[in-house]
Amino acid sequence: MAAEITTVGVVGLGTMGAGIAEVFARAGLTVVGVESTPELAERGAAILRASTDRAVKRGKLDEAGQQALLDRVKVTTDYADLAPADLVVEAVPEIMQLKHEVFRRLDEVVRPDAVLASNTSSLSITEIAAGTRHPERVVGMHFFNPAPVLRLVEVITTPTSDPAAVETVRSLAESLGKKPVVVGDRAGFVANYLLFGYLNSAMRMFEQGHVSREDLDTAMRVGAGLPMGPLTLMDLVGLDVCHHIGDVIYGHSRSQLHAPSSMLQRMVTAGRLGRKSGRGFYTYEKPGSGTVVDDELTPVVPGPEAAPQSVGIVGAGALAEELHNRLQQAGVTVTHVPDASGDLTDLRDVQLVIEAQEESEDPDEDELTGRDVDDLFAELGEVTAPGTLLATVNTYSAVALAAISGRPEETVVLRVHTPTANGQVIEIGRTHVTSERTVTALRALVTRLDAHPVACKDRTGLVVDALLVTYLNDAVRMLDEGYATVEQIDTAIRYGLGYPAGPFATIDQIGADEVLAVAEELYSGTGGYQPHLAPSPLLVEHVLLDRPFTAAPGS
Ligand code: CAA
Repeated sequence: MAAEITTVGVVGLGTMGAGIAEVFARAGLTVVGVESTPELAERGAAILRASTDRAVKRGKLDEAGQQALLDRVKVTTDYADLAPADLVVEAVPEIMQLKHEVFRRLDEVVRPDAVLASNTSSLSITEIAAGTRHPERVVGMHFFNPAPVLRLVEVITTPTSDPAAVETVRSLAESLGKKPVVVGDRAGFVANYLLFGYLNSAMRMFEQGHVSREDLDTAMRVGAGLPMGPLTLMDLVGLDVCHHIGDVIYGHSRSQLHAPSSMLQRMVTAGRLGRKSGRGFYTYEKPGSGTVVDDELTPVVPGPEAAPQSVGIVGAGALAEELHNRLQQAGVTVTHVPDASGDLTDLRDVQLVIEAQEESEDPDEDELTGRDVDDLFAELGEVTAPGTLLATVNTYSAVALAAISGRPEETVVLRVHTPTANGQVIEIGRTHVTSERTVTALRALVTRLDAHPVACKDRTGLVVDALLVTYLNDAVRMLDEGYATVEQIDTAIRYGLGYPAGPFATIDQIGADEVLAVAEELYSGTGGYQPHLAPSPLLVEHVLLDRPFTAAPGS
């Protein structure tokens, strides 16, 4: 195998291919980019120019540097130009027949010691290799979109790949400043396998009207601290690509978690492919743009005047105090009744009452330290004026409290999340009879507190916890099934998807017991009919043995 890589071929200059060519050229390598027609070659060159223009505009590259970079990339339609390449990376559309055709042509033109790699995100590298003359020199080299930004490169081995070819690609990735993870040839490899279970669950929430498009994305970007919301990300990746990857993973796992969504199928059929076609879950300024413009689903954001001007807080403890202070700072009149068993008549004239009693510190007790909440809401229904909104920040069912208070249209649950680097989310869990007035008022109030509102149906885990815990549990299942190691999975997710931490570091940070508790609730909430939600036995083991997944720093 070519020991030193100085010239690299890239076949296919779409979003990924052009990004990969940029990565190589930035590192000073000579690049030969091949497209099938002069028009596509020109489009590829334009993607490269636009991306480097952006770097110039941001002061990351000067114009001379940009020109030198572009001069290192030769764009052609002639495969014969690949003759000097030490390595060729294929990035053509995800059609096996097309991949076989490309590799057959590569076999004819490249040197015998050149390494052939595929950037496929879902097809089997083993099957691609099997169609070539020298399967031992074929490996996967999987980049993430945008390739110049995200550092993960999954290096995929097959039963026939020569370890020297694998090492060549791995060390090249490292020299490009990337984080290579060497993994076996399994559906979705590591990052996409986890990502697409999560995206599918998120998309289903939107499809089923559980949460709006914008709120879903806010929940995960702000509430979970991820770089993008799931629908924004799918629009970036391309809905046709998502559909294809999802299908391949489902074909392997047969898990409900990956079951194809009929909405996605319809969107792809209708040509709504995401950013590249100008319309996906969102509408964009023009095809290829990332700038979202208003469409028929764009919500009207309530102004601050829609927020209640007077709020009662019932209960003592850290969260009650925090809400009290923040509401006051936001200019809201607060009536605080620390003792929920005491006199509630002071709450008669407030516009909203928030129950915020402290949860018991005893982990075996789900009781609150103060008064029984059912009892409290029954009395609140009597003492407060008609139309007063009622909310709890504890994990109670909105419908149960709505029934007990006799205020079905005005009762909601609130879930105040710990802030992430992207801000803070407060979820508003509603029932099917909660009025729009109630939701609008709470949205406006949450915004006044400098937090981001997310309104959704009151189902176990609302949006953030339901999606986060399902993904974390899936990561543990993946580990248990020998897909990859803790370190590989955490590296793949951090550097391939830009998450602030990998799933195992996240579990250790939240506490495996907390994750398991929500996972159990999610599973039992479906009556056990959703086997993909069953808590992983390995998660249970970690909880019972009190063992972290990741090594403690310094150990
Ligand atoms: N090309 C080159 N550079 C880009 C870029 C692009 N398309 N998009 C953004 N950038 C650069 C910007 O120039 C900027 O660089 P500097 O910090 O050096 O100035 C940096 O990225 C941040 O960009 P922005 O400030 O414009 O935007 P942001 O902070 O919102 O980041 C993002 C945008 C990098 C896309 C970030 O949101 C992110 O990492 N999202 C996650 C994307 C993800 O999950 N990708 C994986 C998808 S799955 C996949 O690709 C595998 C598959 O097989 C389908």
